[in-house]
Amino acid sequence: MSDETATGPASIRAGRAEYLIATAARAPSVHNTQPWRFKVTESAIELYCDFRRQLLADPDGREMLISCGAALYGLRLAVRSLGYLPVVDVLPQPGSPRLLARVTLGAAARVTAAEREMLKALPHRHTHRGVFAADPLPAGLLAELEHDAMAEGARLHIVDQGVAYQRLADIVSTASRGLELDPWAQFEMRFWSGSAAGPGRGGVPARAFPATTTSRPGRRPGRLRQRDFDLGRGIGQLSTDGPGPAVTAVLLTMGDGRREWLCAGQALYRLLLHAATRSVFASLYTQPLEHELARTAIQDRLALPGAVQMLLQLGVADTAQPTTRRPPEDVSG
Ligand SMILES: Cc1cc2nc3c(=O)[nH]c(=O)nc-3n(C[C@H](O)[C@H](O)[C@H](O)COP(=O)(O)O)c2cc1C
Repeated sequence: MSDETATGPASIRAGRAEYLIATAARAPSVHNTQPWRFKVTESAIELYCDFRRQLLADPDGREMLISCGAALYGLRLAVRSLGYLPVVDVLPQPGSPRLLARVTLGAAARVTAAEREMLKALPHRHTHRGVFAADPLPAGLLAELEHDAMAEGARLHIVDQGVAYQRLADIVSTASRGLELDPWAQFEMRFWSGSAAGPGRGGVPARAFPATTTSRPGRRPGRLRQRDFDLGRGIGQLSTDGPGPAVTAVLLTMGDGRREWLCAGQALYRLLLHAATRSVFASLYTQPLEHELARTAIQDRLALPGAVQMLLQLGVADTAQPTTRRPPEDVSG
């Protein structure tokens, strides 16, 4: 990880672009599709979405833009690590739907201790689909994560155990069961999962998900029904034995358009990295949100004050299943 201090004028070309892109590209993305491209100019890095990597299950591109929002947060953090404040122009050209953001290096400002911690956590932050440890979340962390979401223009709503959780679990279970019968969604999941590196260093490797038989509901009390990447193939390698506690949360935005999806992605990655600095990781759930009625039902039945962008379950974990990324040369230009 680069540790340059603030010096001189802020040119992006001076050997920094590759580092900035590689750091941004560690972001989480739906099915690890990495649906982003970066274009480096003399003074800016532009972030584009890559429509060829948009899922059929995501016709509006909501999950694609949340993924790209996460990469945008990673890019901002990488700029901070060079000792500059990032200046971000979101959706700078309304006539160009692919162009999501233009990032330039602003004033010099020393990287903070909190940012350093997040940069340190970035390589091992991962989506956690296995067992959580028995430890509770560190005191005060949830409030800090709520603050992270707020600072990025989103909200993290903690779901109380009891009635609210049960309502959510029921909706997730019913919607997920329906989507598991959708042949196109199944085809996409099969395409993006299974092999060690996945298609073109993308996708979710078998070591990062459990086999279908072990991830079924009922076996994992307090855990929402997961996306079944295994698809009955019996290739999932993750153990799910053991009941570690999880805190359930919903990421919300006040509006529900492209700008808000980018906010949600930035909020998501910021809070995931912050949590990872304390050995707290998250399971992410968007499968039920691909069903518009279920998405609305979650908002209505839990009386949530915003559009539902992501469901999370957070817990302490001491294992990691890192996934591969495409190298900078594959995602630039
Ligand atoms: C918008 C979005 C939606 C996601 N949906 C799910 C999901 O429904 N189920 C799941 O297990 N993981 C989900 N993930 C996690 C991705 O599969 C994960 O980020 C990707 O495989 C890369 O792995 P990593 O997060 O461990 O680096 C989602 C991530 C994002 C950004």
